[in-house]
Amino acid sequence: MRKPLSLRMQLLLRLTLPLTFVVILDTAVSYYVALHYSNVAYDRWLLDSVRSLAQEVKAQRDGVSFDLPPTAVEMFRWDDMDKTFFKVESTRVGFLAGDSAVPNPPDLALLKTEPYYFDSEVQGTKVRVVSMLMAPTATSEEVLVEVAETVNKRYSMINDILLAVVVPQLLLVLVTGFHIWTGINRGLRPLHNLTREIAQRSPRDLTPIHDALVPLEVLSLTHTINNLLNRLASAMVAQQRFIENAAHQLRTPLAGLKVQAERALRIDDLPAMRPALTSIKSSADRVAHLSSQLLVLARSENAEGHRLLQPVNLQVLAKECCIEWVPRALEKDIELDFDAPQAPIPVAGDATLLKEMLNNLLDNAVRYGKPDGRITVQLLSGVRPALIVEDDGQGIPSAELDKVFERFYRIPGSQGDGCGLGLSIVKEIADLHAARVGLSSAGVGQGLRVEVVF
Ligand SMILES: Nc1ncnc2c1ncn2[C@@H]1O[C@H](COP(=O)(O)OP(=O)(O)OP(=O)(O)O)[C@@H](O)[C@H]1O
Ligand SMILES: [Mg+2]
Repeated sequence: MRKPLSLRMQLLLRLTLPLTFVVILDTAVSYYVALHYSNVAYDRWLLDSVRSLAQEVKAQRDGVSFDLPPTAVEMFRWDDMDKTFFKVESTRVGFLAGDSAVPNPPDLALLKTEPYYFDSEVQGTKVRVVSMLMAPTATSEEVLVEVAETVNKRYSMINDILLAVVVPQLLLVLVTGFHIWTGINRGLRPLHNLTREIAQRSPRDLTPIHDALVPLEVLSLTHTINNLLNRLASAMVAQQRFIENAAHQLRTPLAGLKVQAERALRIDDLPAMRPALTSIKSSADRVAHLSSQLLVLARSENAEGHRLLQPVNLQVLAKECCIEWVPRALEKDIELDFDAPQAPIPVAGDATLLKEMLNNLLDNAVRYGKPDGRITVQLLSGVRPALIVEDDGQGIPSAELDKVFERFYRIPGSQGDGCGLGLSIVKEIADLHAARVGLSSAGVGQGLRVEVVF
């Protein structure tokens, strides 16, 4: 996997790359602007030189002549930075004076109206040339006068201009980069402190993170972590309470089991031993029931959300369950009705857990229902399939409706030896299936209706 770029590097790149690009662009533009202005300035000097040479071209009776004393030529050529060349040429007789190496303009027609400037080379050195065509009066011939000059002065001027423009800009980029670097270091320090604080914590320490010193942008992160820690803390408290309750619930029947076993051991004849053995069996039943309830609860709690849910046909599942419960219902002369549409009722679910849910509802209905009564298991299809279990027993007083979902809660005086986990299991499994559990009782003695809507 690609290593993520550090925030520091990202910011640095995002700011300095465009800045550097702008500097490069600006340098290129400045170069052409400087070149243009140095040409404008030095071309004017060159033109002056051409004009003063042109004044030395004299019309004679037999043609034109050009006569410049050597001292004047020396004066003309003198320059401490550049070399100057000139050439005077007649269209009729050709070369008259100067340096024959100075190149002619590409086309004489170009200088009919005004002087012509161009870049060329003399003796392998770059030069700027200005050419002028003059027609002295009294002759029919034209004279080309040219001055060429190497470009050292021009480049030196361009360099000066570029230095003045680019150096401050480069400095700006460097200073910006440096400030980003140090600024981010300073800005990230609280995050490093936060990391250290979290790393040094003991796993049991779920107190909120101290977030007074973190930057505003990180505050929402610390709030989220603190929220999570809060929820973890309450989950741990609930877990702890649950373990204590479970231990207590297990200890009582196990202690009973031990006492009854010791009692049985002291008795010699079998008939006298029977009451103790009966107690042992009921204690063992209780422990077995409790541990099975605890295991189902643990399973439904640890099922990983919606990922394990498969399409389940609720109709078949409920029917099978009801058939299994018929013998237990008959023991109490209870009539068990199953009322469901013929068509499959598909829900996304965990079949084993859904069965456990219905088992617990039927267990309650049989256990707390009226002897000789009737239990109805009803299924509703549609966009929101529903499972309804209704009995005609004592029902649950409305004040207790909320409490019965608490783990290990039993309504005082409840018959049988349940452990108060059945409805918590139902709730847990319903939550896992994003289903809603509703309890309703028409009144005391009117039975209980449990509705699970998917
Ligand atoms: N169908 C019902 N009719 C009347 N009371 C009920 C019914 N179902 C549950 N209750 C009451 O709600 C309480 C909680 O029920 P729950 O199923 O959670 O626990 P339990 O039946 O006592 O134990 P467990 O189901 O774990 O063996 C019961 O003690 C009982 O008093
Ligand atoms: Mg129960």
